[in-house]
Amino acid sequence: TKPITILTLQKLKAEQEKFTCVALYDAPMAAMAEQSGVETVLVGDSLGMTVLGYDSTLPVTMEHMLYHVEAVARGNKKSLILGDMPFMSYATTDQAMHNAMRIMQAGAHVVKIEGGEWLAPTVTMLAERGIPVCAHLGLTPQSVNKLGGFRVQGRTQQQADKLLADAIALERAGADLLVLECVPSELAKTITQRLSIPTIGIGAGKDTDAQVLVINDILGLTPKPPKFSKNFLVETQDIPSALTKYVSDVKTGVFPELAHTFD
Ligand code: KIV
Ligand code: NA
Repeated sequence: TKPITILTLQKLKAEQEKFTCVALYDAPMAAMAEQSGVETVLVGDSLGMTVLGYDSTLPVTMEHMLYHVEAVARGNKKSLILGDMPFMSYATTDQAMHNAMRIMQAGAHVVKIEGGEWLAPTVTMLAERGIPVCAHLGLTPQSVNKLGGFRVQGRTQQQADKLLADAIALERAGADLLVLECVPSELAKTITQRLSIPTIGIGAGKDTDAQVLVINDILGLTPKPPKFSKNFLVETQDIPSALTKYVSDVKTGVFPELAHTFD
């Protein structure tokens, strides 16, 4: 089976076929995601909360990320592997170049960074050096203290305009993918239609090119699950079936439902 590349994902967007992403952190889950046809896996810095027990993603270090990217890369040889750059690891372009190198050498195929237009020079420099970038807009958890909590973003016209402008600037700078987290569905739809690169939504409605969920939420490991997530294990028998159901529900437009979205 041929590995998924950014070209595969561009083709899926062009053909208006939805694809999936799962944020996961270890080799066995990575292997099950591969078996279930999950096109992209994200080694998210959400691991600070989902695996390490922290209250936010801020304590996550490069060492944590490298350890988990390596594990996921060992378990999965087919999905495109996205590696999160942790808090303050891309604060300057020099830091971004050095730390992106380490994430890629650990086995990621794409690095993900949170932020808007200010990251355009970083995106360009990484792209020029052969590193695909997934940008991340909307609820950017590394900025939780600046945002004043884990809240929906882009609800005012001014915020929505800024988000769209950021998305366009990041695409122009050379980003290959864009995660939209907790934004109104209509805004995510507008951005998805305006961009030629695929968008991956979480709490962003059904019209993004792809969906991402955290494995803990899919498997019911989260005590108070967020509104946008869904436990796929309750209606299936085992983990591979839960993942397969998630994939097919995204492809057929069954997930996300209105109940999982914001306006
Ligand atoms: O860290 C993570 O899991 C993420 C996704 C929720 C997009 O950034
Ligand atoms: Na993240």
